[in-house]
Amino acid sequence: APAKLTGEGIGENAAEEEPRVLEPGAAPFGNFRHYSRFHPPEQRLRLLPPELLRRLFPPERSEARPILGLDVGCNSGDLSVALYKHFLSLHDGENCSDASRELRLLCCDIDPVLVERAKKECPFPDGLNFITLDFMNQRTRKVLLSSFLSQFGRSVFDIGFCMSITMWIHLNHGDHGLWEFLAHLSSLCRYLLVEPQPWKCYRAAARRLRKLGLHDFDHFHSLAIRGDMANQIVQILTQDHGMELVCCFGNTSWDRSLLLFRASDP
Ligand SMILES: C[S@@+](CC[C@H](N)C(=O)[O-])C[C@H]1O[C@@H](n2cnc3c(N)ncnc32)[C@H](O)[C@@H]1O
Repeated sequence: APAKLTGEGIGENAAEEEPRVLEPGAAPFGNFRHYSRFHPPEQRLRLLPPELLRRLFPPERSEARPILGLDVGCNSGDLSVALYKHFLSLHDGENCSDASRELRLLCCDIDPVLVERAKKECPFPDGLNFITLDFMNQRTRKVLLSSFLSQFGRSVFDIGFCMSITMWIHLNHGDHGLWEFLAHLSSLCRYLLVEPQPWKCYRAAARRLRKLGLHDFDHFHSLAIRGDMANQIVQILTQDHGMELVCCFGNTSWDRSLLLFRASDP
């Protein structure tokens, strides 16, 4: 019988998959092998206006083309590619050779197997770069991000995407880790799009580990930042890290909001 996925709220959302999909086991970083099957990019994309980047960075202001984006926790790249196509209004099979002059995405993930797959399957290798990076490793992060930015003579990204990753940072690095993660992104990106996982997903993720007979996440029981996670992240980014909430693009069918923030001096 098909097993119910009980990862990050999976299971509460009636998504079902064949058991072999679960074999990689714990996925302690949310590094699920087939993530986009149970959280498809389209759910998020339909909430995001395709002209968003053109509106935020109108050509006359974008003296320094291309627009540079950072996708943190890209998994196997399905959402990264979908975002790229969405914002450039590219259609399936269409390959626009000029696209990489408009938008360049640096996409990173802690899991090298997922990154290899992303590289192999990416239909726009000029527009998207995939790298293995533990974003919480400050030293490697600095080297790899600076090396990308310096190719364009820039020191910051125009926009960062943190899609369904905040919970994994929080569970693995605690309150301070989440706070530092958001602090760094707010200093590194002029705009930030965040899709926080709600608290019920934390419980589901912890339950899932227990069912697999594994240890709880180190920090799960000691987290003081809890409850309404979207609101908690808004508070941290606006009150502690000086960002402004520009808008909320509404909730996905998974009850996750898409929050857009702007640095106070973008
Ligand atoms: C649940 S998936 C989300 C994938 C994609 N962003 C999406 O929304 O479809 C979370 C991803 O974050 C990655 N991740 C977790 N901790 C990370 C870290 N410290 N540095 C980089 N990636 C990380 C995981 O490997 C996983 O692929």
